[in-house]
Amino acid sequence: MAPHNPAKTAGRHAVVLAAGRGTRFKSRTSKVVHPLCGKPLLMHVLDRLHQVGVRRTLLVVGPQSKAVRQLAQDAPAGLNIEFVEQHEQLGTGHALQMASPHLEGMGGSLLVLYADAPLIRSSTLQQLLRLVEEEGADQALLTTHLEDPAGYGRILRDGKGQALATVEEKDATAEQKAIREVNSGFYCFRSESLLPALDRLDNRNRSGEYYLTDLLWIMREQGLKVATWTSHRPSETWGINDRMQLAEAERLMRREIARRWMAQGVTMLDPGSVLIDSTVEIGQDVVLYPGVILEGRTRIGPEATVKAYCHLSDAEVGEGALVDHCSVIRSSRVGAGTQVGPFAHIRADSRIGSNVRVGNFVEVKKSRIDDGSKAAHLTYLGDAELGKGVNIGAGTITCNYDGVHKNKTLIEDEVFIGSNSQLIAPLKIGKGAYVAAGSTITENVAPGSLAIARSRQENKLGWKPPKKRSVSRQDAKDAKCRKKGLPETN
Ligand code: UD1
Ligand code: CA
Repeated sequence: MAPHNPAKTAGRHAVVLAAGRGTRFKSRTSKVVHPLCGKPLLMHVLDRLHQVGVRRTLLVVGPQSKAVRQLAQDAPAGLNIEFVEQHEQLGTGHALQMASPHLEGMGGSLLVLYADAPLIRSSTLQQLLRLVEEEGADQALLTTHLEDPAGYGRILRDGKGQALATVEEKDATAEQKAIREVNSGFYCFRSESLLPALDRLDNRNRSGEYYLTDLLWIMREQGLKVATWTSHRPSETWGINDRMQLAEAERLMRREIARRWMAQGVTMLDPGSVLIDSTVEIGQDVVLYPGVILEGRTRIGPEATVKAYCHLSDAEVGEGALVDHCSVIRSSRVGAGTQVGPFAHIRADSRIGSNVRVGNFVEVKKSRIDDGSKAAHLTYLGDAELGKGVNIGAGTITCNYDGVHKNKTLIEDEVFIGSNSQLIAPLKIGKGAYVAAGSTITENVAPGSLAIARSRQENKLGWKPPKKRSVSRQDAKDAKCRKKGLPETN
């Protein structure tokens, strides 16, 4: 998107309505904190406002708004969010009325949006702003045409095509319900024109609510200019009222995200099965196999490959790395050319260097593994620091937990740990040292030495197994009878 013109955006403000009960969403928390492609619904809306240069934002919240208030702390700072409480949920119009004392004396243009409509494009918001700022409209509202308009307010127009009013579904006649043009719930007002109209809202309708949508006919009656802009991409106007609509929006946004990355040179073998959060970044020539999930602040370097059913969240994967099937990486970094998996689990706070190999059934937790080291099979590395060129044999375990504390294992460069060793932390194994296979190491190992900690093997020369006593058939029969308490058979 082209950067906005600061001269034009100096007086841009917004009111975001997020105080509704969200009854249809059936959630214990506000629906607007639920994620869509990894980002809360509300945050999508706030990001959009930031993109169009809004400088002051009034966020209308309900009484149980802790989660919403907390979330807003992560919003772009330039939005200058202020909270407005709506104690009773008496409708969208009432919610806007609650904000009106804060709007007093404010000039410029005012966007009014619902926090449950996260798919809007900033270019569409720009059109509403343009109608007010350049075409002199007192109110601009967004409409669209829906195949199935159920649940939305319908737009009533006169013979000349002028928008006269919005009628809510509950109040609509059968004839009005057949109208496919709906109110999308995005508005822009000339701030000065809004307040006098807002005072005139009432709740004489089927729901007994104050409808924001009544501002259309009220402003027209006041002789003010009301303009509409019609979106030809109905999906951008979707409001999320229930979980089915959330899933639909998720599907749509995921598809767009996948397309965006493919357009930038990412290969996806089955884009429909790949889930990429809106916050992820992917380099050129990356190959993603089916079922890959990339979440949060995950960054995939160029030419890396992520094979089927890997789940990466807040993971950083270096250039040319391979994350092989069914591996999980969380809040960790994996260097260039490194191979992880199949079936590896890299847990939080791990830093894995370049050209490292973390093989199948290896779990790494809060550990550092420096360049060129290998832990190829069946290993647990927890709270460990490995230098360069270390070789960890199959079945090695860092015993990091003594029941009270987590202890560290330090393994210096070029160390060789034989298979099936237990390294009981705290422990330091010096540079170039060897640990013999099957050892249980409890004490530090000096650089360049060999540690063996297992019982010595004993070979008994010429040993034969004890002879089995042969049992006659009659003896066996008698034994059976005795067991059952019967007399013996002869
Ligand atoms: C609203 C519009 C409808 C439009 C649709 C588009 C009204 C009366 N109707 O209906 O014309 O087609 O959006 O999606 O405006 N909220 C408050 N306080 C309240 C009530 C709601 O803050 O007292 C907030 C909600 O948190 C929500 C937003 O306003 O974010 C919209 O409310 P909702 O109940 O979802 O309105 P719709 O029935 O979808
Ligand atoms: Ca809604």
